[in-house]
Amino acid sequence: MLRRLHIRVPSTLCLGCSLLVFIIITYVSYNVANPFSTAFSWLTSPTTHSQQYQLSQNDTILLVSAFFPLSHSKHSMGQYKAWLTNFLGPIRTPIYMYTTPELAPVIQSLRGSNPYPLTINTTFTSPLEIPPLDGMRDMYQEMWGWDRERDRHGPDLYAVWNGKPYFLDEGLKNAIREHGREYEHAFWIDGGSFRDAHTYVHWPDRERVQEVLDTVKSARAPGSEGEEMLLLPIWFPPGGNFREWSEDMGPADTEFSEGSFIGGTAASIRWWREIYYSYHNEYLSRGIFVGKDQTLINAILFLYPERFGTVWVHDPRTLTNSTTEIQMDLDGGRCGNTWYYFEWWLASQSEREAMKRSWDSSVAGGQRWWKAFWLLLGRTEVLKQIDPQYNQKGCLMTDALLMESILRRDDVFGSQWQIPTRTVPPQPI
Ligand SMILES: *[C@@H]1O[C@H](CO)[C@@H](O)[C@H](O)[C@H]1NC(C)=O
Ligand SMILES: *[C@@H]1O[C@H](CO)[C@@H](O)[C@H](O)[C@H]1NC(C)=O
Ligand SMILES: *[C@@H]1O[C@H](CO)[C@@H](O)[C@H](O)[C@H]1NC(C)=O
Repeated sequence: MLRRLHIRVPSTLCLGCSLLVFIIITYVSYNVANPFSTAFSWLTSPTTHSQQYQLSQNDTILLVSAFFPLSHSKHSMGQYKAWLTNFLGPIRTPIYMYTTPELAPVIQSLRGSNPYPLTINTTFTSPLEIPPLDGMRDMYQEMWGWDRERDRHGPDLYAVWNGKPYFLDEGLKNAIREHGREYEHAFWIDGGSFRDAHTYVHWPDRERVQEVLDTVKSARAPGSEGEEMLLLPIWFPPGGNFREWSEDMGPADTEFSEGSFIGGTAASIRWWREIYYSYHNEYLSRGIFVGKDQTLINAILFLYPERFGTVWVHDPRTLTNSTTEIQMDLDGGRCGNTWYYFEWWLASQSEREAMKRSWDSSVAGGQRWWKAFWLLLGRTEVLKQIDPQYNQKGCLMTDALLMESILRRDDVFGSQWQIPTRTVPPQPI
């Protein structure tokens, strides 16, 4: 008995070893064999860069982002690198990115062989150094004590969130200077917004952005035509308890705006920076918590709802109006991660269709496994419950919406709602 055990243990171990070696070799050769796999290219040293693409008249959109490491982050560095790889590798749109000097080579290597411009600005080692937040370190430390979610947040994170309007405006200005050309539109996007592999390349699509902006502009009341508009996604409209919200109540603590993506023309971006820091400073001077950008954005949406176009993934008008009950299958994973639905929504038609096929086939693949599982258990009655219209369902487009129209819906604030009085003018900060 003992002898046999002695012999068996090492041989099992050996089998384990050789399996592991086999898996590693397979993995390495997979990466070598597949030059398009950029998933782990950050492990290799930065390679020499391919010929830079000359921007054409069609490249009219700039993406701006930033990546600053936090001492206590919800996500690991490896996770961020995987997400940044999904962003910087495939997206063929000029990108302007703020990061620290230490991380610049990492970010550059994640761009891989993508020939589109990636400009990395390492002027700031922390977003607490940007001019609008300069000298606020102690104040932010104090503000931390006012945060109802203080266990999960911190002053560095507040600064990362509140730096976005500055980074977007500056990134656009710097890129215009550096690339020697104007951009029609620029958008802030959180660096970790591409959680999964995707089919987007020329993203966001120029014509789609124009179409969305034209739609929301035409929904505005006469008289506001001259004002520039910003585009940003929402998660859910605010509850009726915010109907009486007024400016002096400070940031609106609810999951309304998303904060991951915002942009428009250079003029609208300039305005966004001015209004954002004007309210940020005003509230802070009154001892009101402004650490979380989402809630400060919500307040500005209440005050200026005619200036924002939006996309609402859960819009019930899209979900229920359609014929023959074909529905947007959100929970079935057929729109991917719904927080990032705006990515699909702003892609070109062909890139959207490719993504839809990929979601549909992975969901169908999952269904096959379940079918096999139920068959194995002999539970054939479960198989009969499978929706006969399944193949017609899937991700759908929602309408482009004016923020004011959403807020005036009967089940939100109602048509009688008055836009709150605004007393804090936008100032250059
Ligand atoms: C720009 O876009 C138009 C229309 O999509 C296309 O016909 C043209 O070839 C493009 N030009 C360049 C330089 O890519
Ligand atoms: C980096 O960004 C800052 C702020 O926009 C700007 O002042 C600086 O000139 C930029 N650096 C480079 C090298 O462009
Ligand atoms: C959906 O229905 C509402 C009310 O029934 C209507 O106002 C709206 O225009 C419809 N939307 C579409 C896309 O048909």
